[in-house]
Amino acid sequence: MTVQRLSVEDAPAMARLHAEGFDRPWSADDFADFLTKRTYAAFGIVRDEKLQAFILYQQIPPELELCAIVVTPKFRREGLARTLIIDSLANFEDISTCYLEVNEHNTAARLLYASLGFEVSTVRNGYYRSQDGSAADAIVMMLQPQ
Ligand SMILES: CC(C)(COP(=O)(O)OP(=O)(O)OC[C@H]1O[C@@H](n2cnc3c(N)ncnc32)[C@H](O)[C@@H]1OP(=O)(O)O)[C@@H](O)C(=O)NCCC(=O)NCCS
Repeated sequence: MTVQRLSVEDAPAMARLHAEGFDRPWSADDFADFLTKRTYAAFGIVRDEKLQAFILYQQIPPELELCAIVVTPKFRREGLARTLIIDSLANFEDISTCYLEVNEHNTAARLLYASLGFEVSTVRNGYYRSQDGSAADAIVMMLQPQ
């Protein structure tokens, strides 16, 4: 499984994939904006000649924020997300801490992050608002890469 660096040209494929994983999808323009800034970096996995998984980071040295990760439903539970996180983190130097934020109800993501050593840092009560108006906590998790 090869993890490759993504660029602005991948923005439409990232938007397509993001819509498969999130209720409020980011547009191709959003991704193009991110990837023209040197503080953002994205990595992906291509299979069947199509982007099937990606991860997006913002670098604020010595911190790194994991902004988004998504795997197409067809290829979930095959280790793509785990590989993406491990291999992509190896690209960053001078990073002391990687942070991310996850909805308290997102069990798959929370178990993924915990399995990689991320620990709960703080909880933002009622941070997310669902389309039905209900609130959910944001769990902030952190990892100190070796
Ligand atoms: C969360 C997500 C990225 C996981 O991707 P994935 O490629 O299926 O994850 P992996 O196969 O690498 O799983 C690694 C570990 O995470 C945990 N995990 C992943 N999905 C899980 C699930 N549905 N239920 C329970 N544990 C899960 C397991 O510990 C798994 O290890 P195992 O398969 O050996 O038991 C994927 O479900 C997704 O794209 N979800 C929608 C977008 C999203 O929620 N992103 C995260 C936002 S913070």
